Amino acid sequence: MRPRIVVTRPIPAPALDLLAPAGELWVSAEDRPLSVTELHEAVAGADAVVTLLHDRVDDAFLDAAGPALRVVANVAVGVDNVDVDACRARGVVATNTPGVLTEATADLALALILMATRRLGEAERLVRRGERWSWSMTFHLGRGLQGATLGVVGLGQIGTATARRARALGMEIVYTGRRRASPEVEQELGARFTTLDDLLRTSDVVSLHCPLTPETHHLVDADALRAMKPSAFLVNTTRGPVVDEGALVGALRAGAIAGAGLDVFEREPEVHPGLLELEQVVLLPHLGSATIETREAMGLLAAENVVAVLRGHAPPTPVT
Ligand code: DGY
Repeated sequence: MRPRIVVTRPIPAPALDLLAPAGELWVSAEDRPLSVTELHEAVAGADAVVTLLHDRVDDAFLDAAGPALRVVANVAVGVDNVDVDACRARGVVATNTPGVLTEATADLALALILMATRRLGEAERLVRRGERWSWSMTFHLGRGLQGATLGVVGLGQIGTATARRARALGMEIVYTGRRRASPEVEQELGARFTTLDDLLRTSDVVSLHCPLTPETHHLVDADALRAMKPSAFLVNTTRGPVVDEGALVGALRAGAIAGAGLDVFEREPEVHPGLLELEQVVLLPHLGSATIETREAMGLLAAENVVAVLRGHAPPTPVT
């Protein structure tokens, strides 16, 4: 019997073209997250499932899928929605899409750094409101980045690519994380490894690139925000729950930090109402990997993972 391949939400056509010859393909007709019930119904009897970052892959999902399931291919580098241990315990291979979204996400982190420090969202809103303005020596000043320090939390692929861009702007790099980068990367970036506490105290911009895990949940809480300079900015392009959003609203209201650039939120797609009221915050709807080229590459890599496992080969990018 041909394997049943389930895709929980439409993905780019080249990926579907790769999957189609590999089995009986079912693709959700709805371009929206499936409800838990719909998801569990859809995956019943599947040999392979292509999931998106809003699909929860847990024991209930694996029960619903049943014993035929061999691979869950998440179309994201982040796997906080996938219980990888539960997959492993049942012999289900979990894969993700690292590498192909590195540059697009780093571009967006840089965009947020520039938007927040130069107050560009606020400025654009001013022009759109038709407000009167005139060039003056003091009109709408932001902060320059040359010589400023970027603190990278998690110097993995995306953190490194962001630091590279910041270097090109003349920023100094400090970083923290579970692992120290190679001497080559440290040398290329002129990056100094330090503790989270030191990074928070010394950075002008703190950019978050660590994965969401139980250890990094609310890594940036009220204490962390208090440790930052009042002139500093926080940028988050990883996962919303790495930041305690309520504490962030409090810190911004109190002027404990100068501003923030957020592409991700604690309860996506909801945004804390307090953030919406604050001019010094740039808010984007999780666009890190949102380029046509990147989304096509992500879809293709997920499809390659599925095809490899169904053929009994090692997938290109398993979650280890
Ligand atoms: C990822 O791949 O984890 C990104 O958040 C998707 O944009």
